Amino acid sequence: MTDLSKTLQLYQQRIDQVLESTLSNRNKSLENLYAAMRYVVLAAGKRMRPLLVYSTADALQLDLKQVDASAAAIELIHAYSLVHDDLPAMDDDDLRRGQPSCHKAYDEATAILVGDALQALAFETLAEKPQAQSPETTLSTDLRLQLIQVLASASGPNGMVGGQTMDLAAVGQRLEIDELSSMHQHKTGQLIQACITMPAICAPHLTDNERYTLHSLGETIGLAFQIRDDILDQISDTATLGKPQGSDNHKDKSTYVRLLGLDEAQKRCQELHTKALDCLSQCKLSNSSLRLLVDFIVSRNR
Ligand code: IPE
Ligand code: IPE
Ligand code: MG
Ligand code: MG
Ligand code: MG
Repeated sequence: MTDLSKTLQLYQQRIDQVLESTLSNRNKSLENLYAAMRYVVLAAGKRMRPLLVYSTADALQLDLKQVDASAAAIELIHAYSLVHDDLPAMDDDDLRRGQPSCHKAYDEATAILVGDALQALAFETLAEKPQAQSPETTLSTDLRLQLIQVLASASGPNGMVGGQTMDLAAVGQRLEIDELSSMHQHKTGQLIQACITMPAICAPHLTDNERYTLHSLGETIGLAFQIRDDILDQISDTATLGKPQGSDNHKDKSTYVRLLGLDEAQKRCQELHTKALDCLSQCKLSNSSLRLLVDFIVSRNR
């Protein structure tokens, strides 16, 4: 194992600890709700978004404590989006992260409330001023407000929820490529982009040029991630994915593979990879753990 992949493993352990403490039950009468929240969040997800947050923070020479809340908040929003995405009224998928989807392991009402609870908890986590931190690693109220704004925008009607709305409206339709890419940017891209933007907000020394390049990097890998997801739905298998393979086809979803075919979808993914590598080299970050994640996003098999 290389030093950089060891670094990613440490980030994985770090986020699991942060999530574990974020999800500790403060109310004994809500044991079922907390058990369901923990069931979905602490399951075997890849934790790619928190890893992106920590890798970006490290590349920008931040103390990782400054981005623990951002990493956790993004993963909580992501987990909520998965729970709702699997509901019968949406993609109607019964398997997630290698185990029965939340509405199957519990029930639909619980799954809806778990999503609601995780969303609120994400913003509470970001808003909270950590008690046990030194003044150097405590973010100012102004910075915390900026982080909340970015995450709210990436997850709400102009971000993930908007994209999920487009996704449902596009079932059985043939979208133009620009519409499909906008849908992907909204439903998946923006939250991934926030993994880069949020640490960048905490790094006051960045130039406008560097901010612009990081913005471009986030946009590029965000779209590439969802195109690879579309490809995996076609070429992978349920055991590897931990979610039902072939779900998109089965539900007549609008995807890159459906619109362009597998080869062209793979080509688009490669082009985005090249573009992301350019952004990394412009920011002189080609040797960081971010580089590993950029490679992983376009070549992953789960
Ligand atoms: C799945 O995301 C949903 C999409 C946005 C495509 P991930 O592939 O990151 O899912 P986990 O977190 O590993 O379960
Ligand atoms: C979902 O896209 C994006 C989300 C906001 C959850 P998909 O519906 O393709 O995600 P999977 O394939 O079920 O993970
Ligand atoms: Mg979906
Ligand atoms: Mg789905
Ligand atoms: Mg999918």
